[in-house]
Amino acid sequence: MAAGKHTSIVVIGASGDLARKKIFPALFALYCQRLLPDPWHVFGFARTEFTDATFREAIAQHLTCRYSPDGECDLRMGEFLGRCRYVSGAYDARDAFLDLYLKMRDVEQHQPANRMFYLAIPPSVFLDVAHAIGDAGLVACGQREPWSRVVLEKPFGKDRATSDALAHALAQVFVEDQTYRIDHYLGKEVIQNLLVLRFANLVFEPIWNRQYIERVEIVWKEDLSLAGRGGYFDQYGILRDVMQNHLIQILALVAMEPPARLDAASIASAKVETLRSVAPLELAEVVLGQYQAGEVRGQSFPAYVDDPTVRKDSRTPTFASARLKINNARWEGVPFVVTAGKGLDARMTEIRIRFRPVAANMFCRDDVYTCPEPNQLVIRVQPDEAIYLSLTHKVPGMGLRLQARNLDLQYKAAFSELIPDAYESLLLDILRGDRSLFIRHDELQAAWDIFTPLLHTIDQQQTSPQPYAFGSSGPGSSSA
Ligand code: NDP
Ligand code: BG6
Repeated sequence: MAAGKHTSIVVIGASGDLARKKIFPALFALYCQRLLPDPWHVFGFARTEFTDATFREAIAQHLTCRYSPDGECDLRMGEFLGRCRYVSGAYDARDAFLDLYLKMRDVEQHQPANRMFYLAIPPSVFLDVAHAIGDAGLVACGQREPWSRVVLEKPFGKDRATSDALAHALAQVFVEDQTYRIDHYLGKEVIQNLLVLRFANLVFEPIWNRQYIERVEIVWKEDLSLAGRGGYFDQYGILRDVMQNHLIQILALVAMEPPARLDAASIASAKVETLRSVAPLELAEVVLGQYQAGEVRGQSFPAYVDDPTVRKDSRTPTFASARLKINNARWEGVPFVVTAGKGLDARMTEIRIRFRPVAANMFCRDDVYTCPEPNQLVIRVQPDEAIYLSLTHKVPGMGLRLQARNLDLQYKAAFSELIPDAYESLLLDILRGDRSLFIRHDELQAAWDIFTPLLHTIDQQQTSPQPYAFGSSGPGSSSA
């Protein structure tokens, strides 16, 4: 990037899990690729007491040398850390933000500067921070340089009403064009490829509809426990933590109509249109579960409610499977079965498109041949990014035997390029002002409208989730 105005990147909640494990390593990766707009500085802010030196030590533990040739990595780390500063204070303390302001003005040499504020904090303190940033005079108005942008992590609220109230309050400080609602799944390489796969190839679009597709499955699994995040997770549950955002975004990209253009507004409009066609979920269309004690690959895990950060009588679901209906001409009658679970048997995210069987298939007419399985297109988001299409073939040899085999694209074998972490792509987009991978306000509203009636029913009826053993495949998918 060409040298221009100074850029200050402020990470609020800099002592936290997301900041240390994802945001600072992603910024370092961008620095190593010379993608940070020079001159720049990073500021960490949180309540935890750090000096600049101890803050740099904490960050350094998670930086990796993926993009630096061996000999240069230490040098690059030293340069990067040298531009990181830290300010500690309470999230509603005007004085602390004034202190931040003074430090920023100092490195910005009292010139107008571009500023990114990344709110890597629990949603309960978003508003305090937004007001404190505004009151300290840190935010520049307008879209042109110097710009001020705010990055908000999900979950944005707990239902439609709380999300709207939060958006309304935040809008007093940051207008919509300055607001980047991040869903890191949109930055994952395979998810970014969905648009290209669907619309840059001739073969998919003609069959991407109810006439040829019988069912779509989107599965998200983790074989992890809460790792200290129970205080947050227990208030939100799997429906709000993963399904309402990450999986609904995937659904929107799989199901949407072709956007008019490739710009952020056109893509968001195409997604909104689709999400507004999704029928609000009802309890009968959902399976809820909560993990009990169990083991994965020989390691034992306690039950969800035995996690010290979780209430003993918690009914919060750690697993959900929902059968969604999209009421439009392309998808009517095609179930989208979306499943998410923690404490399962593997870590994996995939999209499975199940095609209809061949009509009047000649290989199924008598018992001579094994009737072929319908085709499936599998898009594996993680781990080991891949896209494969299962097709029926003649097994080589005498006679006619049929077997399914995959046309298989494994990213690691097919591409020599490094696969960037989702946060690297998304942070670069924010710096460049590209909002196409971020959630627009009306998109968020449409996503909440699908889940809000169900969430209220679960709360009112105090619905109990079904137990499943940690390390199992969960209590089953929704077939209602
Ligand atoms: P943490 O629980 O690590 O919190 C971040 C920081 O916020 C903490 O270091 C702490 O800093 C401060 N904090 C924690 N709890 C409170 C509280 N109750 N009141 C005030 N301050 C508090 O969260 P994460 O870093 O995991 O997540 C931050 C945000 O990012 C959340 O919105 C989360 O949903 C989202 N997210 C996280 C992901 C992850 O992988 N961790 C992935 C995707 C989204 P201090 O005490 O120093 O002030
Ligand atoms: C976060 C959720 O948004 O995504 C976590 O809050 C979850 O509960 C995480 O573990 C999964 O992200 P990834 O990129 O590791 O699949």
